[in-house]
Amino acid sequence: MKTIGVVTSGGDAPGMNAAIRAIARVAYSKNLHVLGFEKGWEGLLTNTVTRLTPRNVGGIIQSGGTILRTSRCPEFKEKKGIRKAAETLDSNKVHGLIVIGGDGSFRGALELSRETDALIIGIPATIDNDVFGTEETIGFDTAVNTAVAEIDKIRDTAISLERIFIVEVMGRTRGFLAATIGLTVGAEVILVPEAKHEIKEIFQIIKENIAKGKRSGIIVAAEGIGDTRELAREIEKEIRREVRLSIIGYAQRGGSPTARSRLLASLFADKAVQLLLEEKGSRIVGLQNGRVADIELKKSCTTKKPLDLSLLKLAKVLAT
Ligand code: F6P
Repeated sequence: MKTIGVVTSGGDAPGMNAAIRAIARVAYSKNLHVLGFEKGWEGLLTNTVTRLTPRNVGGIIQSGGTILRTSRCPEFKEKKGIRKAAETLDSNKVHGLIVIGGDGSFRGALELSRETDALIIGIPATIDNDVFGTEETIGFDTAVNTAVAEIDKIRDTAISLERIFIVEVMGRTRGFLAATIGLTVGAEVILVPEAKHEIKEIFQIIKENIAKGKRSGIIVAAEGIGDTRELAREIEKEIRREVRLSIIGYAQRGGSPTARSRLLASLFADKAVQLLLEEKGSRIVGLQNGRVADIELKKSCTTKKPLDLSLLKLAKVLAT
């Protein structure tokens, strides 16, 4: 019986547990042993490991976070750390390791793949949706829905008090969350790091909206655009109306995964185990043209996923 390992690394994303559950159960059906490394890469450095069975992954499909816990692990950025992790895989006779995480975790996985004979497969799970090789990551849909539910509530108070709200959403340096959230809440303005935004243009849109009779407005801003507090002050000064800032923050990373996040988690996990059974490594699974597929880990790590800016154009038309 071969052993496979699982690790969740970096920021948690809703649906990671659904992926762990599916890996354990698909693997069991194929007569594989599953070891879960705890607390991200740290578990591989300290050999903190737990056996995953179909029974002990029960009742987690609906829960956010990760039962394996996770971490951001600076030691893993150094050669020494990578070597230690490779030794741990070796001592546990791990034939293949499934890494559930985002682009940072995959860069670590790529380094590790150069130091170990174990096959490495990545499953993209991050609310940021910024992994090349997949149209969608596990957790993105849940984070979008969490933010949309919050902003719908903010809209009520914005209308009542005739205020402009800037709502800052996560996404690190990328605007995938902001673009989808902005379009789906009917935001008057969407600000993402991938597009240039002149402050004068923002003033103009707001002034035109006021002239059209719109008494309130929502600006969805990706955290990666810079200082939203300062932006709120500048807009308030220019348009002489109350502008408020609401930062949604870490709530976007938690909560019960949507059906969509659970589905992706289950499909990606199944594909990842299949790849290991086919003796394939150094790949990530993902959604391409709506289908589950896989690409080289290195290609994913070295290519920037483009953001479709036509979403912003459409959002502008729809918000008139
Ligand atoms: O990568 C997921 C994410 O939630 C980003 O959207 C955010 O910028 C970052 O993690 C926050 O990281 P940390 O948990 O280390 O504060």
